[in-house]
Amino acid sequence: MADSAKLSVGGKEFDYSVRSGSVGPDVIDIRKLYAQTGAFTFDPGFTSTASCESAITYIDGDEGILLHRGYPIDQLAEQSSFMEVSYLLLNGELPDKATLDKFTTTITRHTMLHEQMATFYRGFRRDAHPMAIMCGVVGALSAFYHDSTDITDPHQRMVASHRLIAKMPTIAAMSYQYSVGRPFLYPRNSLSYTGNFLRMTFGNPAEEYEVNPVVEKAMDKIFILHADHEQNASTSTVRLAGSSGANPFACIAAGIACLWGPAHGGANEAALEMLREIGTVDRIPEYIARAKNKDDPFRLMGFGHRVYKNFDPRATVMKKTADEVLKELGVTDPIFDVARELEQIALNDPYFIDKKLYPNVDFYSGVILSAIGFPTTMFTVLFALARTVGWVAQWNEMISDPEQKIGRPRQLYTGPVQRDYVPVGKR
Ligand code: SDX
Repeated sequence: MADSAKLSVGGKEFDYSVRSGSVGPDVIDIRKLYAQTGAFTFDPGFTSTASCESAITYIDGDEGILLHRGYPIDQLAEQSSFMEVSYLLLNGELPDKATLDKFTTTITRHTMLHEQMATFYRGFRRDAHPMAIMCGVVGALSAFYHDSTDITDPHQRMVASHRLIAKMPTIAAMSYQYSVGRPFLYPRNSLSYTGNFLRMTFGNPAEEYEVNPVVEKAMDKIFILHADHEQNASTSTVRLAGSSGANPFACIAAGIACLWGPAHGGANEAALEMLREIGTVDRIPEYIARAKNKDDPFRLMGFGHRVYKNFDPRATVMKKTADEVLKELGVTDPIFDVARELEQIALNDPYFIDKKLYPNVDFYSGVILSAIGFPTTMFTVLFALARTVGWVAQWNEMISDPEQKIGRPRQLYTGPVQRDYVPVGKR
């Protein structure tokens, strides 16, 4: 693309510089547009807007490519670990063994939660949705870890980042234990990040919990697949909250709230509920018809994506992992058959082909999580647990960006023009 773009507004011509990244679409720098033309751009949903410059994650939606600091997601999922990917996202390079061990030890030593925070859970009903608990407890972290809330101090920013990555599994596990009426388990430093999470979640104080290595590996892979994803809705929420100078715990709580929506991270819970509602392969055509019916708000949950207009590379890995885990655990789940048949039918249906709707990361994840033993209400909690490293990496990048300003979009106003107040007796 040329290095400048011309725009004609009100008969006048304006030039705007065009910038190229290391890969992907160029951007037209329109920061001077309003000052020069008196007009705003209009882009609800930000379908054509780059909100920032970033070096963390790159997605090519047409080619089904997802890179974390340049490394393809399928290679990371098959060969790396969530701790190593966390280090990579935060620091930009793969660590050597000594550095990885040091980072893992640092995270491990932050997994304990302030003892008083356990009382927060008692304030929730036992049947509270775990995402409601996560929003509350993570937001409250700033009340207990006030010594890592000065965002101008790089050391405090990194301590807060480590604390968030480390404490999310503990908070998530406590949310589940509370919902089933079991006592909380303290972290065990001798276990891996993911093994520790599984024990805190499914263990009980009356007996030793044996971490199943197959489940541990699958869970760790699922965390990798959810770690970061460019400027998605919840990451953009974290960046916007952070742009005002809010403390990191408050920003991540905002990201959790946004992720909860069924159009975003809540889709994994909604997708499994949908598969259960369909129930059997013979009922799939009825739901495909509903998804295509403009007058029916029903959508195929786990299908479609703002960026991927080809396959979601994470869904490919997730489907393979689902197959492996179900076989290893000897679980035969009819909804996995429904999922595979639904995918085949949808991928050969002109509606889905024309609208470039493919299974996304949320379509198969629920099958694995259900086989492992998680209730559907925990699915988005697990998404939030994993995405926390992406959120804090993007938050750190934003805070360190010399060009960052408080985010403050404008609008196209279509309300009443100025008019005088009319006293109630004269209306
Ligand atoms: C995540 O952004 C990210 O990176 C998110 C994420 C991440 O890692 O952070 O990848 C995680 O959120 C994955 C997406 C999970 N959501 C779902 O699975 C919910 C179901 N999907 C849809 O709600 C939808 O596909 C979105 C929200 C994911 C994307 O919506 P867009 O890009 O705004 O697309 P759209 O709603 O404008 O849809 C385009 C067309 C529409 O038809 P027309 O109005 O053009 O006639 O496709 C249709 C939609 O009606 N469509 C669907 C559909 N998704 C879109 N029709 C049926 N079923 C669907 N799932």
